[in-house]
Amino acid sequence: MLPGARLRLMALKPSYTWHDTFAMPMGFPPSAFKSALEYEPAPGDFFIATYPKCGTTWAQHIVYLIAHRGVPVPATASLGATIPHIEEVGAQAARDLVPPRTIKTHLPFAMAPYSEHARYLHITRNPFDCAVSFYHHTRGFPQHYNFTDGTFEEYFECFLAGEVDFGDYFDHLASWYTLENAANCLFLTYEGMSTDPKAAVLAIGEFMGADLINDEAVLTAVLKHSSFASMSKDQQRWASQRPDGMPAFVRKGRTGDWRNHFSPEQAARLLEKCERRLSSTKYVEQWSQLFDDVRRFLRGDGATTRGTNEH
Ligand code: A3P
Repeated sequence: MLPGARLRLMALKPSYTWHDTFAMPMGFPPSAFKSALEYEPAPGDFFIATYPKCGTTWAQHIVYLIAHRGVPVPATASLGATIPHIEEVGAQAARDLVPPRTIKTHLPFAMAPYSEHARYLHITRNPFDCAVSFYHHTRGFPQHYNFTDGTFEEYFECFLAGEVDFGDYFDHLASWYTLENAANCLFLTYEGMSTDPKAAVLAIGEFMGADLINDEAVLTAVLKHSSFASMSKDQQRWASQRPDGMPAFVRKGRTGDWRNHFSPEQAARLLEKCERRLSSTKYVEQWSQLFDDVRRFLRGDGATTRGTNEH
């Protein structure tokens, strides 16, 4: 056995709180989860609806910044106090917000609070980088997952099987995709936000009814304070403290980190699932460069795409 290698009789899995077959992070009160499912959106409610690790916090801060005319969340405050995660804090905390409310949810569409009079900002991210980011997230919050010693190999099997919190990545994507052309929804990708943050901020602003095109000072401030460099600072604004030695919550912020984690066998299996589950979506086209890169990786060719949003 190699030095440092660990011998396990059984693969380690993250621990979750199960609601029937739906997994949630440990420590999220069951009563909050149940009440979130019953929340009735008020007209004007604005939801940021994402699968975990697809750019939720980034989108939350952009929305916050637009609403606060470019002034960022102070170092001593928590973004979640203004834009709460409804499955974690429950429906009453959402009702208590001063309208117009902005609410975060990771629920699949079929379970999410929905009204045609509310608006939904949906962000998704390619599943390769999502899996890597979700792995680091899961090992970094022992109180929620008890997975500090988990390996990427172990996590990957759970991700591929859809046995992680908030359910299967592909089910989640497919459920929200049914709203892709709805007037009350805006669909963006993490990759698109990385490639052209200004276009993403303008699109979000327009969706919120904010005229950023004619407000250069606010637009500049929103872009500055929502950049990876700015959001890497004062990270207690986004999440609770992580144990020493764990990557920060705002971690790498790149497209393409999957290459540092995936074996060819894992990449082939996830690619097969992408081909099967994404074939009728626009993401086949939008992530075609990434999928080509995976195919090159499987052939043993070098990468031709570098991570976007290099810092
Ligand atoms: P990585 O772990 O790949 O770095 P979520 O908020 O949905 O949990 O998503 C977290 C991911 O978004 C992390 O990805 C994090 O680094 C990235 N992220 C957060 N803020 C960002 C920003 N301003 N620019 C680019 N990526 C950002």
